[in-house]
Amino acid sequence: MDSFSSLIRTASHEQHTEAETSTFMSDLLGGRLGVDAYARHTEQLWFVYEALESTAGRLARDPVAGPFVRPELFRLPALERDLAHLRGPDWRDGLDALPATRAYADRVRECAERWPGGYVAHHYTRYLGDLSGGQIIRDKAERTWGFARKGDGVRFYVFEQIANPAAFKRGYRELLDGISADELERQRIVFECKRAFALNTDVFRALGEEFPLSA
Ligand code: HEM
Repeated sequence: MDSFSSLIRTASHEQHTEAETSTFMSDLLGGRLGVDAYARHTEQLWFVYEALESTAGRLARDPVAGPFVRPELFRLPALERDLAHLRGPDWRDGLDALPATRAYADRVRECAERWPGGYVAHHYTRYLGDLSGGQIIRDKAERTWGFARKGDGVRFYVFEQIANPAAFKRGYRELLDGISADELERQRIVFECKRAFALNTDVFRALGEEFPLSA
């Protein structure tokens, strides 16, 4: 039987491709959008990580979600530095969640409050993605908008406390494989992971509508 980590990976593969090839992501990574679109995306991430991380303290002692809560993953301080760089010191004044972002953050918070297994699905979808494809996005962003390498503007993608991301991801997959959840609960987590991908795609769709290419 497949391990849980490969099950969750395979199950979300199709949606990963959908998110990766969304119009907004393709335009962003293709260098066809201005830094304003990048900043707007970063603002949306702030709401998602606020939901993931403001609830993490409470979940740290939970038998299912607790092992996944690792301070070296926390992205909120880095996001806030990026936003100060992108939007200026008053970045909080202009912060505004798209309806799709609000729905995503609400679902994360709901899971954090009521269903630790669901929280793990959201945790996996974001953090393992950031440790993987996030590095491609960082590289493109640095080149396209001239941010300093691993500096302000792209700190969200830089995990300063994780020296070896490949090893970290291996450890993370081991945690997934050892999760204390029965077969039915594992299926529910996989389903929530698919939902997490869909929520990301919804945000990309909304951003795509806000930043259509004029050409
Ligand atoms: C243009 C955007 C993206 C690119 C280029 C990209 C690229 C990648 C690559 C190359 C990997 C494989 C890393 C490995 O095998 O260790 C990966 C894994 C992953 N990505 Fe993405 N990705 C993108 C967007 C996303 C999005 C939007 C999400 C969800 C929010 C996401 C979630 C994940 C997850 C959860 C994994 C880990 C899969 C696993 O090994 O279990 N990615 N990504």
